This record gives sequence, structure tokens and C-alpha cells, in this order.
Amino acid sequence: MFAIMPFLIIVLSSDYTKGEIELRAVKHQTVNCNERTVLQCNISSSMPLSIVKVYWKKTEDKDFECDPTSSNRPPGFECNYTGEALTLTISNPTPANMGSYFCCIKADSGHGAKEINVSIGQCIGEFSHQMPEPKQMQCSFNGVYPEGMINWFHYDKNLTSSSTVTSLVNSDGTFSITSVLNIQDDQEKYKCSLWSLKHGKYLKDQEFEVPVHADSRPISRISTQHCLSWTLIFLCLMF
Ligand SMILES: *[C@@H]1O[C@H](CO)[C@@H](O)[C@H](O)[C@H]1NC(C)=O
Ligand SMILES: *[C@@H]1O[C@H](CO)[C@@H](O)[C@H](O)[C@H]1NC(C)=O
Ligand SMILES: *[C@@H]1O[C@H](CO)[C@@H](O)[C@H](O)[C@H]1NC(C)=O
Ligand SMILES: *[C@@H]1O[C@H](CO)[C@@H](O)[C@H](O)[C@H]1NC(C)=O
Repeated sequence: MFAIMPFLIIVLSSDYTKGEIELRAVKHQTVNCNERTVLQCNISSSMPLSIVKVYWKKTEDKDFECDPTSSNRPPGFECNYTGEALTLTISNPTPANMGSYFCCIKADSGHGAKEINVSIGQCIGEFSHQMPEPKQMQCSFNGVYPEGMINWFHYDKNLTSSSTVTSLVNSDGTFSITSVLNIQDDQEKYKCSLWSLKHGKYLKDQEFEVPVHADSRPISRISTQHCLSWTLIFLCLMF
């Protein structure tokens, strides 16, 4: 034991004099859907580094590698190395981009890597609705994240039990949720609401009217108007 100690001290201190690479980064980052994001690792070293290779990799995707010196980069990613920092730009983040990224440095004197965990906050998605049948209302939220449920209301009356819902996962990891409500009476006003399972609250409300004596004509004009006004209200709330 006492014989090993001095040996360890020599090994550790000799490693230090060779130039220790220190990488600093924000460990957890929550990024907004579709909002250009830059991950950054700051590099410092006790001695000038003679770099062999710098690159980014991703734990969930063995083929992922972003090397600033290579033109062959993962689609939707940019990376850069300035000497003081190594950056990875995600131009259009989606849930498929979540995971742990590593900035990696290989130098003559040693190597270093630092993990950054990326999660996605929320994807707003797009709303649409139509009448597939005379006695049916259909409401869709496309490109939503996280997963949600659609509830139906006529004023305060909860009509959700008369509806059927389907949920699909898109290739970018977002969800497309569609619910069809069977209309019993000729009521005019309906509201479909997107409930977020993760946040435990309603993310979006969409209210619309069914023409009295509804026939099978699609009500696209009303739909666009409502969509526009709700988008405006939503944008106003956000800013
Ligand atoms: C990295 O460096 C930049 C610029 O000097 C600084 O703004 C940022 O806070 C640093 N990040 C970390 C994690 O140290
Ligand atoms: C990489 O960094 C250099 C130096 O800061 C800068 O001039 C260049 O525009 C950056 N490239 C990208 C793709 O960000
Ligand atoms: C990052 O996320 C992965 C997978 O979710 C987890 O195993 C790992 O411990 C996380 N790393 C940090 C530094 O929190
Ligand atoms: C409406 O009903 C659905 C299912 O029947 C339920 O999950 C939901 O919590 C109800 N919402 C409200 C506000 O009562």
C-alpha cells in the first residue's frame, strides 16, 4: 500500500504537467421545438494543446458524429471549433434530437469529453378540424410534443366519452393526435382541448361552430378564421 502511493502521485502529477484538458458545459439543456440552439463546450488547458481531433457524438445514435473539419455532417447540425470552444448547432430541434451529446477532444497530451443532456420543452404543432360525416366533428393536433389527450366540450358539458381518439408518432418524435366526436343533438358550439399528460394542463383550446342542420359540406372558411384568431391569441399570450 505505502509502496503504491508514491507511484500514484508520480503518475498523476506527470499527467498534469503534460497538460490537463478541462471542458466546461451546461449539463442539462431544455431547448424549444424548432428554435435554433447552440450547445457549447468551453476548452481550457494548462498547456497549449496539440489537437488531433475534435468532434461531437451522441449516445443514442452510434453513427452520429459531427466533426468541424469534415463536410459530412449529420443533417440539421453544424459544428465549429475555435480553440476556446467547441459548438454544436441544432438548426431545427425536434423530439428526435433529444439525448446525450458529448463534445470530445483528442490531443497529443490526452483526451477529454463532456456530456450535455438535451431535452425538448414543448412543440406547439398545428390545429385543424373538419366534419368527416354529417354527425361527426374531427379535431386534429399535428406535430405536438409531449403526448396529449383531446377532450371535447359543449359549454361546460364534457362530451369526451362520445369521442374516439387516435395518436401517431411522427418520424421527428412529435405526435399527431386526432379525435372524432359523434354529435347527438344539433348543437352549435363545440370546443376541443388538448390536454398535456406531462404538464397536467390544457395546452390549447379550439372552439368552433357547427352550421345548424349540418350537412356534409366542409366548414373550411370558419376553420381558417378560427385558426387565425386562435393563433393570434396564442402568440399574444406567449409574448
Ligand atoms: C463558455 O464561454 C462563454 C464565453 O466566454 C461564456 O459566456 C459561457 O458562460 C461559458 N460556459 C461555461 C459553461 O462555462
Ligand atoms: C466558426 O467559428 C468561426 C470563428 O469564430 C466563425 O468565423 C465561423 O463563422 C463559424 N462557423 C460556423 C458555421 O458557425
Ligand atoms: C443524461 O441522460 C441519460 C439518459 O436519459 C442519463 O442516463 C444520464 O445519466 C444523463 N446524464 C446526466 C449528466 O444527467
Ligand atoms: C372530461 O372527460 C374526460 C374523459 O371522460 C376526462 O379524462 C377529463 O378529465 C374530463 N375533463 C374535465 C375538465 O372534466
